[in-house]
Amino acid sequence: MTETLLPSYPEPPPMLTRAWYIAAESRELKWRPLARTVAGVPLVLFRDDQGRAAALFDRCPHRNVQLSRGKVRQGQLQCPYHGWQFNGQGQCVHIPALPPGQKPPAGACVQTLPLKEQQGYLWVWPDAAPPPPDIQPFYLPYFEARGWHWDRLQSRIGNAVSNVVENFIDNPHTGYVHGGLFRTPASHWVDNILETTADGVRIDIREESQAESLLARLLVRGEVSHQDRFIYPATVEVRYAFGPGREIIGYQLCTPVSAYETRIFVHVLWQMGWLSPLVRAGFPFVGRLILQQDVGILESQGQVLQRYGEHFHSIEADSANLWIQAARQRLQRGAQLKSRRRQVRFRI
Ligand code: FES
Ligand SMILES: [Fe+2]
Repeated sequence: MTETLLPSYPEPPPMLTRAWYIAAESRELKWRPLARTVAGVPLVLFRDDQGRAAALFDRCPHRNVQLSRGKVRQGQLQCPYHGWQFNGQGQCVHIPALPPGQKPPAGACVQTLPLKEQQGYLWVWPDAAPPPPDIQPFYLPYFEARGWHWDRLQSRIGNAVSNVVENFIDNPHTGYVHGGLFRTPASHWVDNILETTADGVRIDIREESQAESLLARLLVRGEVSHQDRFIYPATVEVRYAFGPGREIIGYQLCTPVSAYETRIFVHVLWQMGWLSPLVRAGFPFVGRLILQQDVGILESQGQVLQRYGEHFHSIEADSANLWIQAARQRLQRGAQLKSRRRQVRFRI
């Protein structure tokens, strides 16, 4: 088959809007409005005078200016163009140009989006239909639990959310993209046990040896256990246990911004005994470095995909991602995942 070498600019992949996504970290939203786009929906976030966060569609009903360019005045969002003010429910509560005593017209309101503030994150539901009560934002386990510590990072990546998720579950890239940091290229065999869960896919990774990597030499005492998990719609959990009472769990919480842009929130939790302060000191540097390496490769992939679309050729070592794609499609349709288990072996 001959393929044209000229860019074809294919239709971008559709985004899933019926899901909770992180729009921002709580600490990013202070007393100024904050503009964010979630699954293609432009939003303005702000806090009222009680500190309660709200998410409104970023369009003033008067002359359609972006409300995110305005100000927060006495807990209300003020449009930068003619000063109309809106509360957290999107109702217009003040129009400066109206004569005293005259109320704003009833239809002059802004659509709001469901928002939940939880564990230091602002989650929004970017769909016109309200969220069913059984679908909740992802809850971070061990968050502020005794003996556990946490830290976080955030980044934007010019690539589709599906490829960002794949990257975090993909072990064969680690020796190349992060060469020497936590693996060396094609150095050992790995057994992967893939299993479906109610909300995604779990992968148990049994590695022969990791002793050659820098991080392993620092952290490992005894048996290492490594488990990755895809949690619908766009979360990846990476869990390493280094002997009793020593564990590091990384969550990659992905938010589609647009078809080829993803905002990623990395939340890392650890209990590492006396090594915990070392992880605390090292994470901002090592975590940022690993993330930047992934961002670099994903941006490069994203540029090609935007021009030519996805034409992937998968091998056995890509099984986890194929399972994730299948799981995502089924869950998106509202179907349950069939219980499946399979072992695959490859070199990383
Ligand atoms: S455009 Fe917002 S007040 Fe006029
Ligand atoms: Fe990576």
